[in-house]
Amino acid sequence: MNIQSFAVIGAGQMGSGIAQVASQAGLEVQLLDLKEEWVQKGWNRIVKNLSRNVEKKKMTEAEKEDVLSRIHTTVHLEEAVGGADMVVEAVVENMQVKRDLFGKMDDLAPDRAILATNTSSLPITEIAAATKRPEQVIGMHFMNPVPVMKLVEVIRGLATADNVYQTVETLARKMDKTPVEVNDFPGFVSNRVLMPMINEAIYTVYEGVAEPEAVDQVVKLGMNHPMGPLTLADFIGLDTCLYIMETLYEGFGDSKYRPCPLLRKYVKAGWLGRKTGRGFYQYA
Ligand code: NAI
Repeated sequence: MNIQSFAVIGAGQMGSGIAQVASQAGLEVQLLDLKEEWVQKGWNRIVKNLSRNVEKKKMTEAEKEDVLSRIHTTVHLEEAVGGADMVVEAVVENMQVKRDLFGKMDDLAPDRAILATNTSSLPITEIAAATKRPEQVIGMHFMNPVPVMKLVEVIRGLATADNVYQTVETLARKMDKTPVEVNDFPGFVSNRVLMPMINEAIYTVYEGVAEPEAVDQVVKLGMNHPMGPLTLADFIGLDTCLYIMETLYEGFGDSKYRPCPLLRKYVKAGWLGRKTGRGFYQYA
């Protein structure tokens, strides 16, 4: 199947990046969020990103305008998905919210449409079961920041059809990404490996082993990571980190995945990292 019209649900940090790379790949894109101001925030993020590319001479002003001309914003789900060949959902990491949305999209999207989720950790099979087309539901897990990171984990649910997998793999390459197939288990591969490390780094702060700056320095200089785990956690969003740890903990029933109480405390305080101006660090 040749995907031409594409919809992105959720215009947050991931959704806006996915809309940008989809448009750069030549697709017509509908970008939706719940409120005008939130769609506008996503749109502004795309404009800022593209303008930076123009400044760095990676793209011309005309190319930037061309990319923007293919992105249409809306707050109406029917308008977003009504003519879509494919939808990627990038809303909050919560099973009930995603299942409700997939049920609605199943009613509104054309029969041909593939419904993909950018979930970081939730079971694709369970999201697919909220629709009458589980064979057309798949995980397409981009990394943050989407325009920069090459990896896309492609996750089949139990019922996902081969041709749907092939279509998504081809589309990922068209977006200049490298697709890697993984199976449907909590956290897939990326977050099963990454998130327990971040959680453990938070434990070292919680237990007074070291200050956040020191933890990040140890990992950066000692393991050659480009970014320390606490800086990365702030970048991902501490709410998203907590949701992922909870999914791992529930999914495997193993105490090694218990979320650190300090992570819970920060999320309860509304310290969600960069996006709220405060997490393990403060942002102006
Ligand atoms: P975010 O908080 O930046 O954005 C989520 C957006 O979804 C918000 O603008 C919110 O208003 C909107 N939203 C919530 N419910 C909605 C609904 N029912 N309909 C339409 N829009 C709705 O979150 P972020 O970081 O973009 O994460 C989105 C998804 O991507 C989550 O599933 C997350 O696990 C996943 N993800 C996140 C990564 C990260 O590093 N932050 C990396 C890879 C995946």
